[in-house]
Amino acid sequence: MKKLLFLIFNLIFFISCYTSSPPVSDFSRDLPVPPLLEGTLADGEINYEFEVKKGETEIIEGIKTETYGYNGNILGPTIKVRKGKNYRFKIYNNLGERTSVHWHGLRVPGEMDGGPNQMFIDGDYWEPHYKIEQPAATLWYHPHTWHKTGEHAYMGLAGIYIIEDEISDNLPIPKEYGVDDFPIIVQDKRFDRWGNLVYSNEHIGAMYGMRGDTLIVNGILAPALDINKKYIRFRILNGSNASNYLYSFSDNRDFYQIATDGGFLEKSNKLKKIFLSPGERVEIIVEFKDQDKNKNLYLRTDNKNIMKFNVKKLNKNIEKIPAKLVNFQEYDIPFNVKTREFILQGLGHMVTINGKQINMNRVDEYVNLNEIEIWEIRNIGTMHGTMMGGMMGGGRINPNDDTGFSNGGRSLNGHSFHVHAVQFRVLERNGQKPKAFEDGWKDTIFIDMEDVVRVAVKFEDKGLFMYHCHILEHEDNGMMGTFLVE
Ligand code: C2O
Ligand code: CU
Repeated sequence: MKKLLFLIFNLIFFISCYTSSPPVSDFSRDLPVPPLLEGTLADGEINYEFEVKKGETEIIEGIKTETYGYNGNILGPTIKVRKGKNYRFKIYNNLGERTSVHWHGLRVPGEMDGGPNQMFIDGDYWEPHYKIEQPAATLWYHPHTWHKTGEHAYMGLAGIYIIEDEISDNLPIPKEYGVDDFPIIVQDKRFDRWGNLVYSNEHIGAMYGMRGDTLIVNGILAPALDINKKYIRFRILNGSNASNYLYSFSDNRDFYQIATDGGFLEKSNKLKKIFLSPGERVEIIVEFKDQDKNKNLYLRTDNKNIMKFNVKKLNKNIEKIPAKLVNFQEYDIPFNVKTREFILQGLGHMVTINGKQINMNRVDEYVNLNEIEIWEIRNIGTMHGTMMGGMMGGGRINPNDDTGFSNGGRSLNGHSFHVHAVQFRVLERNGQKPKAFEDGWKDTIFIDMEDVVRVAVKFEDKGLFMYHCHILEHEDNGMMGTFLVE
């Protein structure tokens, strides 16, 4: 009986989704740039306040859609902090239900992390405070609500979190926020015929997480950005619940990657395409030329244009894209290094890490403070995987791209593995040294079906933290574990 109901539900879901075809737009609206959050200085701390609330957004021009936002109607203000400084937040919950705010990629003590163990109820506030102890990077913040992270993020809760330091100040790169330095938050949504967001963690498609048919950038469909400077820096976040993207430009131009999740690369990395799984970020610099004025130029994910560039009179802002960026302090891996294995398995509600689903009353891993370890993450797929993957148009295919992923990143059975409170380094992917695009500081990493990835981690903050799949429906379905650093 339950099975039958499930099938009927799925059928209805599919019909209701697929009869309303995805909306189209003509790239006539300006790209929204999230405002910078303004702070005040008191007692040696910079104080920030914001609220979590419901709102309405014209994601599609002319149609009002209910969304959630931090301060605004959708997404949140960009929070900019500096290494070495102290911050205090007061976050008010006016959402009508409990939530939490997690600083994705930030090194903070466990009680400031904003995981599911730090939810606060409607009408209440949360007051985390911490010192920034890590280098310049593009991080983000989002809810980590027990079993509801996916829904809350999907409804619009996400914001960009930028760390600056002396090194980022001195690098000759674009750095004027909203002028030649733009956050680009890419997400996918699904609408019903009335323009409401459709969210479901139950339908059969949610085996692979909530995936939409409409791609939005910074909260709206099909924006356009005027380009007035020769070199533009984009801080791109894959803020989707479950979808992977392969970003490129419509004329297939080269661009330069300058950063991974946790900060700058040692050298800028020339590319035509870059892959991001949910939760991952990248910073790139693109050069625009006068002859681009006559082009229809777009940012694309896979084969879809998602944002247009209107190239205007170009002012020179930097000389050229620097080749050398920073120096890494490489980890000295001790010969008797502790290695932990994390086995990712399953799909839908059957997702596990090391055969277990989350239990907040259980500590899965005990970790020593300041000790280098190797974490080996392995995606063994699912018995279903090949069958369902094939059925859903995914499964094993083998394009000859240079990601180094077992399935070129095209498998629906890949997982996006995220560890709180740390930036790690990739040592090996499938026995090979990491490619340049992921040879930097990372907090989230794509583990394709059959991939084995070894990373070096060192935890420098005490407390209880999570590791989990950043496909948010997998996280909500229990694909998450806890670790205690002491
Ligand atoms: Cu971006 Cu545990 O999360
Ligand atoms: Cu997953």
